[in-house]
Amino acid sequence: MVDGDLPAVAEIARANDEPDGGDPRYVSHLRNNGRFLVAEVDGKPAGYCGIRQADGLTMLCDLFVDPARHGGGAGGRLLEVALDGPGERSTFASRDPRAMSLYVRHGMIPRWPLLYLSGPPPVRSHVLLAERVPVEDAGVAELDLNGRDRAADYAYWATRPGAAGLVVRDGGTVVAAGAAEPGRVIHLVTADDHDPAATLTAALGTFDADRVRLCLPGPHPALPSLLNARWRIEDLDQHMASRADLLSPASVLSPSLA
Ligand SMILES: CC(C)(COP(=O)(O)OP(=O)(O)OC[C@H]1O[C@@H](n2cnc3c(N)ncnc32)[C@H](O)[C@@H]1OP(=O)(O)O)[C@@H](O)C(=O)NCCC(=O)NCCS
Repeated sequence: MVDGDLPAVAEIARANDEPDGGDPRYVSHLRNNGRFLVAEVDGKPAGYCGIRQADGLTMLCDLFVDPARHGGGAGGRLLEVALDGPGERSTFASRDPRAMSLYVRHGMIPRWPLLYLSGPPPVRSHVLLAERVPVEDAGVAELDLNGRDRAADYAYWATRPGAAGLVVRDGGTVVAAGAAEPGRVIHLVTADDHDPAATLTAALGTFDADRVRLCLPGPHPALPSLLNARWRIEDLDQHMASRADLLSPASVLSPSLA
């Protein structure tokens, strides 16, 4: 991809109702920390694809084709280039059957749904203490929790309007860390020895919005209580991966960056 492709990428994203591809900060985050590919048909951009690679795992973050060219082979060609090496791979498939068809044929198996939920935040937890912190501090807290250095992702999340870091403590110990923006939990990971439903309840208590949005794996232990509290499933993707244990279903996930 070259800088001159940015307007065409934004237009393809807009035509697919996809907000991230129209955000130059998101595109430059992926260009700086992964790969961003553009497919041309007849000399004009027809589709794009974003990937990240870490520890032998390739995460397919985005794959979008100009609707006028859906089914014309551009998506398949982008995947052949993006996933040409060995190693594990994972992604979230939309409900477009072309996406799942291509991903299965590139070695990924459907694992669980990722649910786009919205609902009223619960009253504050009295067991765990959740607080808003600078976004970068939450990135350091996640590194301490699980050893994953997501500093670049936290730096990108920090550019989003109204962004904040989230940390949840049990006594003095940090047991969950993540990022939020107004009305949305972007990301939240929980220490292995703590209950992800309890940390999410605590994190949701820091919101004063009427409704909060988040993306939750189907197997996440908080799902039954959220649905009992009248949360709504607004959409769903399908998590697909070459191996079952590549992504924890106990986290709030960002569909593009996980
Ligand atoms: C999904 C998408 C990126 C695929 O790109 P594309 O250029 O349209 O796809 P291609 O033409 O390369 O390949 C589609 C494949 O799906 C197959 N396919 C189509 N409908 C299918 C169905 N109902 N069941 C199974 N396979 C199907 C086609 O046969 C084709 O495979 P083939 O080339 O071996 O014949 C594109 O359609 C798109 O942008 N969709 C909307 C946005 C979206 O959902 N993006 C995915 C985000 S995860």
